[in-house]
Amino acid sequence: MSDVVVTQSGPVLEILFNRPEKKNALTRAMYAAVEGAFRHADEDPSIRVVLLSGAGDTFTSGNDIKDFQARAATNEAVHASPFLTALSSLATPLVAAVNGAAIGVGTTMLAHADLVVAARSARFVMPFTSLGLVPEAASSLLFPRLVGHQRASALLLLGEPMDAETAREWGFVNQVVADEDLMATARGVASRLAALPPAAVRQTKDLIKNGRGDVPGRIAEELVLFRDRLRSPEAAEAFQAFVEKRKADFSKFS
Ligand code: COA
Repeated sequence: MSDVVVTQSGPVLEILFNRPEKKNALTRAMYAAVEGAFRHADEDPSIRVVLLSGAGDTFTSGNDIKDFQARAATNEAVHASPFLTALSSLATPLVAAVNGAAIGVGTTMLAHADLVVAARSARFVMPFTSLGLVPEAASSLLFPRLVGHQRASALLLLGEPMDAETAREWGFVNQVVADEDLMATARGVASRLAALPPAAVRQTKDLIKNGRGDVPGRIAEELVLFRDRLRSPEAAEAFQAFVEKRKADFSKFS
């Protein structure tokens, strides 16, 4: 079965990260598949809502770290770049159903979702600095706005995890439900949205996101730094430590 499964259920396009043996870590092919599904959703008038979820016990563990290592050796653009553009400009409403870990881009992508349903097991982590990286997906802009400067600093500088209930209190997720109720609840939210007049819904989403005109510029600015960081000795140490299942040692860096 494919690492990304896209199915249409009536007016709802369901996108499933489906690489549970690797905690749904996102490869280049997976980004391309999701980006294609987003574009398809905006082009096909029969699709009124997109629903994003992850298979197994994880939403997604973020970018595949072995892909990061491979990328560091080349000068290629960051894989996630076209995906982030499609995500941040998606006109169709996006509902996310999150269980287990949502790491790195697994969390930052949710700042672009319109409605987020979290299972009690959900845990949001953005460990960019500990990987020698900087934030992406305009999270450096959106998180301070959403949760305030100090909380954003704890999340993005320290990489502190945010549990489901905290995420709800801070306005990052709409509701927290029992794990076994996650998909039924999220599908219910998607169905409610899909039953509303579609043009009014799309225009309302557009208006809500109207104040985000600075997002594309920030995504681009972050990615310039991100690409340099991917090639940094700090990131090389962090990636190698992950592969070797040991704690990274940053003591030698100034
Ligand atoms: N990239 C590549 N492989 C990953 C991965 C990632 N982001 N996340 C998990 N995997 C792989 C593991 O290497 C392991 O592979 P193996 O079975 O071949 O050894 C497999 O997925 C299972 O992961 P494991 O760590 O054993 O599961 P766990 O339940 O103990 O922990 C996580 C799950 C998600 C908490 C942990 O895997 C993790 O922290 N992953 C890295 C997250 C990260 O830093 N992402 C980058 C963000 S910018």
